[in-house]
Amino acid sequence: MSKTWRPATQLVHGGALRSQYGETSEAIYLTQGFVYETAEAAEARFKGETEGYIYARYGSPTNDMFEKRMCAMEGAEEARATASGMAAVAAAILCQVKAGDHIVAARALFGSCRWVVETLAPKYGIECTLVDGRYLENWEKAIRPNTKVFFLESPTNPTLEVVDIAGVAKLANQIGAKVVVDNVFATPLFQKPLELGAHVVVYSATKHIDGQGRSLGGVILSDKEWVTEHLQDYYRHTGPAMSPFTAWTLLKGLETLPLRVKQQTENAAKIADFLAEQKQIAKIIYPGRKDHPQADIVAKQMKGGSTLVALELKGGKEAAFALQNALEIVKISNNLGDAKSLITHPATTTHKNLTDEARAELGISPGTLRLSAGIEDGDDLIEDFAQALAKVKA
Ligand SMILES: Cc1ncc(COP(=O)(O)O)c(C=O)c1O
Repeated sequence: MSKTWRPATQLVHGGALRSQYGETSEAIYLTQGFVYETAEAAEARFKGETEGYIYARYGSPTNDMFEKRMCAMEGAEEARATASGMAAVAAAILCQVKAGDHIVAARALFGSCRWVVETLAPKYGIECTLVDGRYLENWEKAIRPNTKVFFLESPTNPTLEVVDIAGVAKLANQIGAKVVVDNVFATPLFQKPLELGAHVVVYSATKHIDGQGRSLGGVILSDKEWVTEHLQDYYRHTGPAMSPFTAWTLLKGLETLPLRVKQQTENAAKIADFLAEQKQIAKIIYPGRKDHPQADIVAKQMKGGSTLVALELKGGKEAAFALQNALEIVKISNNLGDAKSLITHPATTTHKNLTDEARAELGISPGTLRLSAGIEDGDDLIEDFAQALAKVKA
């Protein structure tokens, strides 16, 4: 593997391990365990004196290929593949804190991520402060002597707020805390949190990395020191490992990631511009547009816009439901990053467990919809929105 390869090349060839058969497509090593030539070889492997696999909960060849390809893409030294994005988020946070520690997290998080820091962590004596992550001073004010972890996603789900990752990393470094970034919405193509100073990056590989609606998966990336000190034992002994079959589907997904994300982003940008001009629409939030509330931070830390668009209808929930129901190509689904265009109403789906007040703080109104643009022909998507909006009262 060459460090100088550009992303599209890394995503096709990075991490490939060929068996003696010289297969073109990566092999699926669907095995739980491994056999050793001798008892001495087993002993040496367990002692860490020789390289090799021990048990699939610890690591296995197909997963290794996926992890190495992700490392090459992200500029990370180590990765661990997990069974879902939530397994990655929970492991990345919980492996490095203990009772008495304190986490500062942005309040704008995907519902399950927020549950991990706001509800689960305190059950184990880990305190958590949620802040409006858009403003660096809020992160600074929340710091306590026992703050160990900063957690954020950027852009956020669903209202596409952004957090100044380099700014948060600078604060964390001053107190020896670690920054964990959920980079799902940006994808590894548009934002590199490790280069911006973050310490750990997590993905739900279920989204753009698979991108074809097949597999749940996740991945945690960081440097060797952090993985050895914090994640290694947690990962081995709590068992969030990914299935090798999933690792194989995700390797295939990575091969086409740049093509899909390019087309999705072009479609999202086109739809955002079209919707911004429609009389039924109160507001559009799209990181690629000049009118994004934090366009300066987007320009500073992201290489591209987004495959997602947040839109608010003037007619509230009734209009939002009418639009969803009238769309023909765009499907109603709470997933995102897929080849198919998907739309969801966060207030009644992904963010339904929040209080009305918490939703209002995040800018999620009854009229808010989140669109995940697919790879269909952009003109067909515009026509779909045009015909559906014609059925929505202004
Ligand atoms: C930002 C973000 N993080 C994490 C997750 C969880 O991923 P998974 O569904 O693969 O567990 C999601 C899922 O929607 C998400 O949007």
